[in-house]
Amino acid sequence: MMRRNGLTGVVLLVVCVLIVYMGYLMKDILTLQQRIEEEKKPEMLNGRPHIIMIGEVEDHLYWNIVRDAAKDYAQENELYLQYKGPRDSDPDEQLSILRRVIDVQPDGIIVQSLTEAFIPLIDEAISLDIPVITVDSDQPMSQRVSYVGTDNLLAGEAIAEDVLAHVDDVHAGIITGTYTNYHHQLRLEGFKEVIDQAGDASIVDVASSGIKRVNAREKAYQMMINHPEINVMLGISALDVLGITEAIDVLGREDIYVVGFDTLEENLQLLKQGKVQTLASQEPHQMGMKSMEIIEKIIQGESVPDVIHTNSQLVKDGSS
Ligand code: BGC
Repeated sequence: MMRRNGLTGVVLLVVCVLIVYMGYLMKDILTLQQRIEEEKKPEMLNGRPHIIMIGEVEDHLYWNIVRDAAKDYAQENELYLQYKGPRDSDPDEQLSILRRVIDVQPDGIIVQSLTEAFIPLIDEAISLDIPVITVDSDQPMSQRVSYVGTDNLLAGEAIAEDVLAHVDDVHAGIITGTYTNYHHQLRLEGFKEVIDQAGDASIVDVASSGIKRVNAREKAYQMMINHPEINVMLGISALDVLGITEAIDVLGREDIYVVGFDTLEENLQLLKQGKVQTLASQEPHQMGMKSMEIIEKIIQGESVPDVIHTNSQLVKDGSS
């Protein structure tokens, strides 16, 4: 009798656990459905194709330009665009956003694809018939339909050639946005390839800013203290030259040749003041517009090129 009571107790316990678990599952499903409905409110879409763009950061000098250009394109061409991104650069968070965006099943996804971890999700979206293109940073091994952005390898090479043309016996310090992001790696690779081929040039140290100006300043400061022989500093992501020049100001090392990426207004000021010698421009505005045009074409069934390189060139202060 005691044994039977014990058994009934266990069964009851299992049933209770199952009920609670099912409750949680239902809650998750309902929340997901609610989110999908909120994101795809028919009155918001108003018959327009729904496109979601995922950038590196939700609010950032560089990404705001990409986002605003994409929004302008959407407005002019009867498309509904949502822009999303993490608060700070965080590939894991960016992947979670991509995961949630796929659940919403929009008509097209434009994503800055940072690492190989993005490949399975991009491919999953494609298998669900959601066209995906990459912007700013590519993932050529995925099934994305097209890439819109800078030829990052070439830009890295061009900067190195500029350095070699202006500095003898190069000892370069580098602040990169990240070690892991594909486009930053390509820039570094291009720079390194050219520097390695020159007999009297070397890369002394590399540090990462996590694309933040304050980190770029601290890392550059420490690097120049540790390696006083450094005579060139390269900033690989948009805010790195801002941090580098602040560190140079503190150390009073005006002899250092500074090069970097992006012609943001703040960086152009540094060029004018002679604190930066060369910038590789990118076209975040063009990336926003063009990526929208390409995803629209794909949605309309048109074929598009595999890679669309936006313009990038070296911009100098005019005195060298
Ligand atoms: C890169 C972007 C990055 C930005 C950050 C740019 O050079 O292309 O991917 O988000 O720098 O500062």
